[in-house]
Amino acid sequence: MVPVILCGGTGSRLWPLSREAYPKQFLPLIGGETMLQATVRRLEGLQRLQAPILVCNEEHRFAAAEQLQEIGHGAQSILLEPCARNTAPAIALAALTALECGEDPLLLVLPADHTVADVPAFQSAVQAAAALAEQGYLVTFGVAPTRAETGYGYIRRGEALGDRAWKVMAFVEKPDDDTAKSYLAGGEHAWNSGIFLLRASRYLEELGQHRGDILAACRSACAHAARDLDFTRVDKTAFAACADESVDYAVMECTETAAVVSMDAGWSDVGSWLGLWELAERDADDNLLQGDVLLEDSEGCLVRAENRLVSLLGVKDLVVVDTDDALLIAGKQRVQEVKKLVHNLKRSG
Ligand code: GDD
Ligand code: MG
Repeated sequence: MVPVILCGGTGSRLWPLSREAYPKQFLPLIGGETMLQATVRRLEGLQRLQAPILVCNEEHRFAAAEQLQEIGHGAQSILLEPCARNTAPAIALAALTALECGEDPLLLVLPADHTVADVPAFQSAVQAAAALAEQGYLVTFGVAPTRAETGYGYIRRGEALGDRAWKVMAFVEKPDDDTAKSYLAGGEHAWNSGIFLLRASRYLEELGQHRGDILAACRSACAHAARDLDFTRVDKTAFAACADESVDYAVMECTETAAVVSMDAGWSDVGSWLGLWELAERDADDNLLQGDVLLEDSEGCLVRAENRLVSLLGVKDLVVVDTDDALLIAGKQRVQEVKKLVHNLKRSG
């Protein structure tokens, strides 16, 4: 089994901490390790595990390599993308690279920006999925939904394939609010965790069937790749011509051969400041304070001070993130819109 670690996202909802130069997966958001390091560590002890393939942006190559080295791990390959084309192409590059070595391994696709509280439960879900992936299923890991989140994919369970596994009857990526509410109420859907276990050749087959254009662009980008020390740089022109699409839309919504294994492992996608606040330990007034912070008569806040003292008095439910060159102050319930803010910032800047 080869872990494929996707670490090419921008994490813009965690601005101003997460930046293009240092997106959230390369930062220690909770505890001392970065999210990438925690992702690799979480695999220690899994059986028949090979060294990971990392897929990241060219700009982050040294951060990725150094962070693995720091925890005593090495990568089998670090694939460098000249530009972000989302997860369907990123996984295709990894699958093509794995096949080049003459094997057709199972790929454990892992986003580098999740947290998992119960590592043994996570590992047992992966082991349970292996038999299904061997049979050719594209296996997803389903999490019991707790709110009508519109930023996730939803999986409708079909025929049972074992105690904790089912065929996927339908996969719907990022439904609208009403649809998400009806899925939550119906009780037949799981959240897609964004982790997948699939055989390299099976992924490419399905991608070829549903998005032949993406497969062709990735084949060409790999065929003209250049090696540089531990890094593999895919061809810029070929990769830039590839469509920008996630695996969820390109493959998971279309395939008829997906399975879902339930995963009850305290999984969380640290997607926003609210997500981080919910996840971390807070004080008696429900505040999450990081760095040099002085708070009085305030509750429900997340305050992160990077370089100087930050103090708040008599406020509620605020997110305050102070960095060297940018300060964010936001209502805690509005933090999903930080992504939009960053988008506008890029346009105006
Ligand atoms: N190499 C590479 N290149 N990695 C990428 C790229 C890219 O262009 N774009 C995103 N990634 C990485 C991100 O860093 C992250 O680790 C992972 O791929 C998933 O991308 P996100 O952009 O975070 O996806 P999402 O959160 O909107 O949705 C996915 O995850 C949800 C659960 O967290 C989907 O799989 C949903 O269905 C799922 O519910
Ligand atoms: Mg995500």
